[in-house]
Amino acid sequence: MENQIVQNTIPAMVEGLPKPHRCPWLVQYFLASPLRRILEPPEKVLGPFVKTGMTVVEPGCGFGYVSLSLSKMVGPEGRVISVDLEPRAAARLQQRAGKKGLADRMDIRTCESHDLGLGCYEGQADLVVVIHTLHEFEDIPGFLAQAARLLKPSGRMLVVEPRGHVTPEQFTAELECCRLAGFKELDTPELGGKRMAALLAPPETREQ
Ligand SMILES: C[S@@+](CC[C@H](N)C(=O)[O-])C[C@H]1O[C@@H](n2cnc3c(N)ncnc32)[C@H](O)[C@@H]1O
Repeated sequence: MENQIVQNTIPAMVEGLPKPHRCPWLVQYFLASPLRRILEPPEKVLGPFVKTGMTVVEPGCGFGYVSLSLSKMVGPEGRVISVDLEPRAAARLQQRAGKKGLADRMDIRTCESHDLGLGCYEGQADLVVVIHTLHEFEDIPGFLAQAARLLKPSGRMLVVEPRGHVTPEQFTAELECCRLAGFKELDTPELGGKRMAALLAPPETREQ
């Protein structure tokens, strides 16, 4: 017997999505800087969604500001899988994880723009964290199909976008994409600062 994800028909494009763009390389340094701890303390922003022992995936991990914090939160029994399109980001995160003694609970990889390359983790993730990244994906429906396959039926996806950079209307269009991909919106948590967020359950599975 096999579980198969119930896929909805996803239109190629939902009206009003942000135009995909890549964040400039120098911004990565800001995103990983200590200043961000004041503006966006990861334990406060992500703490309510993460428990020790979890398997968490961060697509678009950059230099790993979020992934490194997640790996502390999941503890030695947990696992964080971090992927980024940009090989220099993955390399940098690998180096930082090694220095902090967190590498053994992390799997850090470079991926292709249309393929996260995480087939070996299908059905294993408790949480997929997509933070300040969904608007960068060229193929949001394609990404969502992969995220759905990664999640356990009880898993969750947390999408966080920066207000201003992404307008509320564009965020609504992103959530419409999620709904069309079969995700169910459970909550729109107020994470403070200039953030818009949604917690989503994966598409239902059916037994064959
Ligand atoms: C604005 S940065 C956010 C980094 C990180 N999530 C954080 O909050 O610090 C977005 C990241 O997504 C990556 N990215 C863009 N498109 C991607 C794709 N199709 N697959 C994987 N990563 C992607 C970029 O290389 C960049 O590192």
